[in-house]
Amino acid sequence: MQAYQILPGANIDGLQCVDYPARQLGHGEVRIRVHAVSLNYRDLMVASGNYLVTVDDPVIPCSDGAGEVLEVGHGVTRVQVGDRVAGSFFPHWADGATSAEKIRHSLGGDIDGMLAEEVVLHQDALARIPASLTFVEASTMPCAGVTAWNAIFVSSNGLKPGDTVLLLGTGGVSVLGMQLARAAGLRTIITSSSDDKLQRARDLGAHHTINYREIPEWHEEVLALTQGKGANVVLEVGGKGTVNRSVSAAAMGGTVAIIGGVSGFGGEVNPAALLATAKRMVGIFVGSRAMLEDVMRFADVAGIKPVIDRVFPFGQAADAYRYMESGSHFGKVVIDVTHRG
Ligand SMILES: NC(=O)c1ccc[n+]([C@@H]2O[C@H](COP(=O)([O-])OP(=O)(O)OC[C@H]3O[C@@H](n4cnc5c(N)ncnc54)[C@H](OP(=O)(O)O)[C@@H]3O)[C@@H](O)[C@H]2O)c1
Repeated sequence: MQAYQILPGANIDGLQCVDYPARQLGHGEVRIRVHAVSLNYRDLMVASGNYLVTVDDPVIPCSDGAGEVLEVGHGVTRVQVGDRVAGSFFPHWADGATSAEKIRHSLGGDIDGMLAEEVVLHQDALARIPASLTFVEASTMPCAGVTAWNAIFVSSNGLKPGDTVLLLGTGGVSVLGMQLARAAGLRTIITSSSDDKLQRARDLGAHHTINYREIPEWHEEVLALTQGKGANVVLEVGGKGTVNRSVSAAAMGGTVAIIGGVSGFGGEVNPAALLATAKRMVGIFVGSRAMLEDVMRFADVAGIKPVIDRVFPFGQAADAYRYMESGSHFGKVVIDVTHRG
């Protein structure tokens, strides 16, 4: 079978498609025929060598994949041959609160990930895909879907329908977060550098949109749109360029979910900005397999179709990375592993 490999730091040109020997299944392991892999900003960070964990040897990249069970090893009870499954970002975090032990490995980070025709994962790292989601759609769930779910429904301070969620930019986490929030009866405000993307967001049901290039003081606009109250949850993906405005845009008692740093990490947040307003900042690190099961169940019940901007064939994985890097996408970029191109 064929798999991509990359030495973290070798950049996108370092992606190589190689013949990869299939290995025997161990106890509890499952062989999966991968159908679709979605890209995350994190995969660009792995390629450029800027991800949190580094390794000395090449890895199969990408955390997010969906496919079909081909073979099961001894002791496998959770899935059967033919089941449609997605891999969980942290294969050892099944459920409950996080711990160093549960997040010790991540797919496509320090261990092999999903950008391969076949992968072997432990049964505990797998979640069944509901029939309403295609493989391409399900491949968006393990990182982007789970992160947005965790921020909005797990780590926030008890949201009620009608509360407000603020989403920054129109990348994978934010657009899927907007779809989840909208379907849950939450008010959604989303920002972008592009009016065309904001129109697409309104077409998807966003209540309010703000062009952060045209309105650099966008946090004031958020306050104006919410009668001075602010957003109950902010999905903070911007980092040092946005975090202080995100805190200002949050409601009293609201949550700023610290997710990413597309403008870089660093900067300072004045603790006084949180104190009298009882705002909370909470770090989000993707989530558990149980959250993956929850977000896919909700997508099924609510009829959510994750927005797929573009699908590339397996043979053009490097083009998919470059397209993602260009920032022109809205929602998710996916690689169809069944189509060589
Ligand atoms: N902590 C976690 O568990 C976790 C999980 C997933 C992702 N992340 C992080 O979250 C971030 C987003 O990930 P992603 O996969 O969704 O990325 P993505 O699909 O590449 O989206 C990036 C988007 O960010 C927007 N953006 C860029 N600069 C911005 C700014 N100054 N203010 C507001 N928006 C800005 C752009 O939207 P427009 O084109 O609309 O302007 C861009 O399309 C990354 O830093 C990633 O590492 C963290």
